[in-house]
Amino acid sequence: MRILLTGAKGQLGRHLSERLQGADDLIEVDRARCDLANAAAVSALLDATHPDWIINAAAMTGVDEAETASAEADQLNHRLPEQLAHWAKVHSARLLHYSTDYVFSGTGDAPWKETDAPAPQSVYGITKRRGEEAVVASGASAYIVRTAWVYSALRGNFLSAILGKAAQGQALRVVNDQIGSPTWAGSLAHATTSLLARPPEMEVGCTLLHVVNREAMSWFELAQRAVHKAVELGVLDRPVDVMPVSSDEWPQIAPRPAFSVLDPSKYETLTGQEMASVDEALDACLANWSQWQC
Ligand SMILES: NC(=O)c1ccc[n+]([C@@H]2O[C@H](COP(=O)([O-])OP(=O)(O)OC[C@H]3O[C@@H](n4cnc5c(N)ncnc54)[C@H](OP(=O)(O)O)[C@@H]3O)[C@@H](O)[C@H]2O)c1
Repeated sequence: MRILLTGAKGQLGRHLSERLQGADDLIEVDRARCDLANAAAVSALLDATHPDWIINAAAMTGVDEAETASAEADQLNHRLPEQLAHWAKVHSARLLHYSTDYVFSGTGDAPWKETDAPAPQSVYGITKRRGEEAVVASGASAYIVRTAWVYSALRGNFLSAILGKAAQGQALRVVNDQIGSPTWAGSLAHATTSLLARPPEMEVGCTLLHVVNREAMSWFELAQRAVHKAVELGVLDRPVDVMPVSSDEWPQIAPRPAFSVLDPSKYETLTGQEMASVDEALDACLANWSQWQC
């Protein structure tokens, strides 16, 4: 089975790459290999490699940046999955594409299910939703995996940012009024391999799934737990103070959903595999912290 992995040097892509090494004929695509904003280059890549599976972990993920670069966000988050899905449909390949909790309004207090109506509030959320719609409309055999609050030991995410500051002895001020589903990139990569292992005849058309670690919390609570566990596991020498702040005290360009918890029950029922809890996932991430630092 030949797998084409886009975004291979991204946070999720690096975890997918580790999981898929050796198992298959894996073609890893980073920006140096192909500019995925260039549709002609993407066509040439697909025709030259002819994958059985396309895993699209590439996206424009800068939520604030997307507000002022909406054309680029649309190209990566909407037109790219549309193109991949059309190619998959024509060539009887399969697509696994990632989307986001930002497709929802962020109001309410019940975990979002796949049947809930999207109402994105930011350019990032709007373009990711358009990407979902395009994949569905293509008629390709596909999974759309919505996830949320993805972290890892790699640079450029919430967890590595706060633990980097804590390692320098800095106290942390963290938003306490946004609730979500923190998800380790390793858990998401593991869940992805479970989906890839399913026989094609078990899925017809497009299947939409929410894949997140179990347990909802605020960024503040996640930071508290992470600092505590990091000290326990020797990632930090000593604890630092973690103080709650409101979103008003931490202004950002794009609106953030206040309630962004996703319900992974459909994925769990489909695969028979329970998602790890936030505590289990944090432990697994921190246990291998230093090996992911390069
Ligand atoms: N991170 C989160 O909290 C989160 C939450 C919900 C959903 N998701 C979704 O999960 C998926 C994976 O996210 P992630 O956290 O792994 O994001 P990430 O670390 O930002 O990775 C995205 C990858 O896409 C690549 N890319 C962007 N533009 C490209 C272009 N024009 N040509 C080639 N490659 C390009 C990036 O390459 P460069 O590094 O060279 O730019 C990067 O390697 C995305 O679909 C995202 O929307 C993420």
